[in-house]
Formats: sequence, C-alpha cells, structure tokens
Amino acid sequence: MDIIELKNKIIHIIDKNINIEEALQGICTFLKNEIEYFDWVGFYFKNGEKEELKLAQFAGKPTEHIIIPFGKGICGQVAISNNNFIVQDVTEQDNYISCGLDVKSEIVIPIFKNGENIGQIDIDSHQINPFSKDDETLLEFICEQVAMMNLKY
Ligand code: SME
Repeated sequence: MDIIELKNKIIHIIDKNINIEEALQGICTFLKNEIEYFDWVGFYFKNGEKEELKLAQFAGKPTEHIIIPFGKGICGQVAISNNNFIVQDVTEQDNYISCGLDVKSEIVIPIFKNGENIGQIDIDSHQINPFSKDDETLLEFICEQVAMMNLKY
C-alpha cells in the first residue's frame, strides 16, 4: 500500500466533486476497487438528534442495516466509544451485526467535527486478519478530510 499515493488520490476525488454525496460515493468506490481486501466500504452518520446511525454512501453489496442504534454492533459501539475499532475476526465479537456470512473482519473509524463524533467510515472484508496500521492511518486521514466538508448530516 502506497499511503501517500492513496491520500493524493482521495484529495483529488474530493476536489473534483463539488457535491458532497458524489465525493463520498467516489471515496467508497475508489477504496473498494483499490484495496483488494476492502469488500464493502460505507459511511454512516448520526441520524439527526436520534441516538442512531444512518447509512449514507457505500460501495459493495446493499445491506439491510440502514439504521443502527447507538451501542449495537461494531458501528454502534464506535458511535459511543469514539475510538477506532478493528475486528480482525468477527466470530470473536459478541456485539456484532452480520451483513453476510462472507464478511470475516471489519474496521470502523469515527469522524469528528468540532470534537463531536458525527459518523464513521466502515469497511468489511472477506478475509480474516487483513487490516494493518496503514489502513488505520489512511482511514483516519479520510475521516479528517470528510470532517472538513460542509456536511449536512
Ligand atoms: N457489521 C456492522 C453492521 C454494518 S455492516 O458491516 C454494513 C456492525 O456490526 O455494526
């Protein structure tokens, strides 16, 4: 993984899309295509004043988990903990919402705007133990870039 090249490509995707939705979709599609163990990539954001997450843009198989209550699953736990959550093997997690038997691991990184946890990027992989520190660094960078957008979520 060439982190610098990937970061530059992400900045390019953001810069060339005036529309936030298109930029977020572009990031999802790019990451899924570029990183072979990223099988599903999506953004969840806090659903207004509700204590729940709502799915925004994603790339990969459609999921029925459009709304996730805070505290439920990997995503819901990150909404409360404010910490990155890397699950290298989902069978080891009790509080996990399955999006299919082919999903073996997951990484979720929160997005902070003005110190508030407003959402997250969520990656599912069909491989066990695929994620490295580089993935975390790249995804944190993406979350920082997304936080700088004029999000209406
Ligand atoms: N597995 C997630 C649910 C969302 S899907 O991965 C798209 C979770 O446990 O929160």
